[in-house]
Amino acid sequence: MTASRGEFSSRFGFLMAASGSAVGLGNIWGFPTNAASNGGAAFLFTYLVLAFALAYPALMAELIIGRHAKSNSIKALQSISRGPKTRALAVAVGALGIVTVSFILSFYAIVSGWMMAFFLDPLARLFGASELASWLTRDTSWRNAIFMALFMALTIHIIRAGVKNGIERWASRLMPMLILILLLLIFYVLTLPGAMDGVHAYLVPDFSQLANPSLVVDAMGQAFFSLSLGVGTMLIYGSYISKGENLPVTGSLVALLDIGIAVIAGMLILPAMYVALANGVEIFNADGGLVAGPALIVSVLPELFGDMGAAGVFVALAFFLLMTIASLTSSISMLEVPVAYAVESGNMSRGRAALLIGAIVTCVSLVIVLNFDPLFDFVVTYATEVSQPLLGFFFCIFVAWIWRRDAVLKEISQGCPNAESGLFWKIWPLYVKFICPMAILLVFLQ
Ligand code: PFF
Repeated sequence: MTASRGEFSSRFGFLMAASGSAVGLGNIWGFPTNAASNGGAAFLFTYLVLAFALAYPALMAELIIGRHAKSNSIKALQSISRGPKTRALAVAVGALGIVTVSFILSFYAIVSGWMMAFFLDPLARLFGASELASWLTRDTSWRNAIFMALFMALTIHIIRAGVKNGIERWASRLMPMLILILLLLIFYVLTLPGAMDGVHAYLVPDFSQLANPSLVVDAMGQAFFSLSLGVGTMLIYGSYISKGENLPVTGSLVALLDIGIAVIAGMLILPAMYVALANGVEIFNADGGLVAGPALIVSVLPELFGDMGAAGVFVALAFFLLMTIASLTSSISMLEVPVAYAVESGNMSRGRAALLIGAIVTCVSLVIVLNFDPLFDFVVTYATEVSQPLLGFFFCIFVAWIWRRDAVLKEISQGCPNAESGLFWKIWPLYVKFICPMAILLVFLQ
């Protein structure tokens, strides 16, 4: 059984895949705009605290369960259960994770499709196809459906190729490219007039916002979404790590990469917005806050690129390529969760499972595209603000209250022989036992 499962071939491969899952639209779009509308560095500070104190322990819970069980999320949770009640809970939590991640993929693919269309727009303009260019940037159901389906086809194609030849190979190519493009764009944008006002808006804290309860809720939601927690992606990637790998170290590298890239993405988006302002583009909404929703990515930034002349074409290409890459390395991790289940528990071949589940998600996406207003926000809110934190809560309960403590230590000790005397084992068990579940519940109830 284990022999037929995939495994990442190296620590680098795992790091690229897991940070590829974590780094996505949530980092490059979600984090900077959340920071902008929640008091700049006051949000940054709260986010850093919550990401390290709550999201990192929850990430470790998933990685440890996954590597221990070396199986899909439902089986993995069952394998650490004790008695029929917790086994039933394992099935419920694992299944809710699979359903939730499929819904996340269904809206993520729509937004990622926009990124692909906006990537092709400067190319179309470069080749004088102005009608095509305006079709690509017009918000129509046809465009949204076609690009969503294209994006899903790419995701399915990579997942069909398997863990090493699909996920690891593509993440190892795309992630270094993503970091390079992000840095180049930041260096360029920071040289433009107005950029320093953006840096100021991002890094000078408005501490009065700390009293705002939505700041903590937003920061926690952002941290959970950003680290892809609760839905079994990190569990399944954990199940493909070799037993010789040091989990606390590898897990902290993933968290550091994810948090680091979100923080540096702020150095791109906010300065770019203020450069747009200096060029006469409206960046504030009716309440005086910064534009944060889809309008930012599909109207404010393209307007800015349009004003940049010839350079704007390349900046637009680079920016939307960055967004497409970030989306793709995340979407493959989402599709892997139900596919791994279908392969291991439904005895399907990987190719068939990827195709079948990918097609189902594409159909759900299509329903959302065709009923955008009533459905899109509903699916986003339910999946990311209700289901994800709730599932994160249950993962902590499984690892800290249901699984035997000595078995947890035994798993961590593989690849980290001195685990018992290390700092991680002194702090982490307490965190996942008390602090994480209580904090999640508190924020959740709010
Ligand atoms: N972490 C991704 C982002 O920040 O965009 C989103 C994500 C990926 C959420 C995978 C959930 C998931 F399972």
